[in-house]
Amino acid sequence: MAELLDVQTRDGVAVVTLRNGKVNALSTALVAEIHGAADALTADPPGAVVVTGGERIFAAGADISEFGGPDEAATITATIHRALDAVAAIPRFTIAAVSGYALGGGCELALACDYRIAGPRAVFGQPEILLGIIPGGGGTQRLARLVGPSRAKELCLGGRQVPADEALTIGLADEVVDGDPLERALELARSLAAGAVLAQAAAKRAIDDGLSMDLAAGLAHERELFVEVFGTEDSQVGIRSFLEHGPGKAEFTGR
Ligand code: COA
Repeated sequence: MAELLDVQTRDGVAVVTLRNGKVNALSTALVAEIHGAADALTADPPGAVVVTGGERIFAAGADISEFGGPDEAATITATIHRALDAVAAIPRFTIAAVSGYALGGGCELALACDYRIAGPRAVFGQPEILLGIIPGGGGTQRLARLVGPSRAKELCLGGRQVPADEALTIGLADEVVDGDPLERALELARSLAAGAVLAQAAAKRAIDDGLSMDLAAGLAHERELFVEVFGTEDSQVGIRSFLEHGPGKAEFTGR
């Protein structure tokens, strides 16, 4: 049973909260629980997902006390990649609500979500270089895709920490709020959960899969998913509702 994280579902939104001691280090045990939670949310998806951590520390990264030599490193990076790929594959909109430090694997977990909402004291960074190592939880890849290669290199090679406002400017955070980022994340998640979630899943797949394809292949993939989504009950509900009542009034069933 999960002990290092907590999953609560309300109003169609699953909230995953990391609870691994003071700094939420992504120990092997916590990473296994994140992987298990992501698989469960994929097998039986809610309407949307929010991932959050501690108020002062979202997550301080991989558990450095578990590091050893290359053999341990191979296991750690493979395990965290599998877990964060499972998070990225959750077929619903996923939001990281970050109120404090999201460093190393903590930043990488936030990067594996679809959207990042930061509080005023949020701090992001890939400080692995300060330990003489590099990010091993997807940071070099997902960060570069989000903020561009030159900024990703400056952050991964320098290990600098990025405050919330700068994170917003460079596109690492999508919103910064004055108050509790969890409240804003819940508000956004509830609004998406009430929408056409199967179409959202198709749009997410088209965008994510397309990022690793050339344009022609990405467009072909979009065509397939566009056709597929017309097989959902929601597409018929949405189209009929538009024709009869105008835009934005459809009540979707999630089927
Ligand atoms: N793995 C294991 N232990 C960690 C840790 C991590 N990633 N991050 C912090 N800790 C431990 C510290 O060693 C310390 O242990 P102690 O109480 O036994 O001395 C404790 O957590 C508190 O850390 P401390 O640095 O004293 O807290 P702080 O509030 O001053 O700072 C952080 C918090 C998160 C900013 C800071 O701990 C930090 O920068 N952590 C490392 C981040 C990192 O490099 N991540 C990438 C890992 S590859």
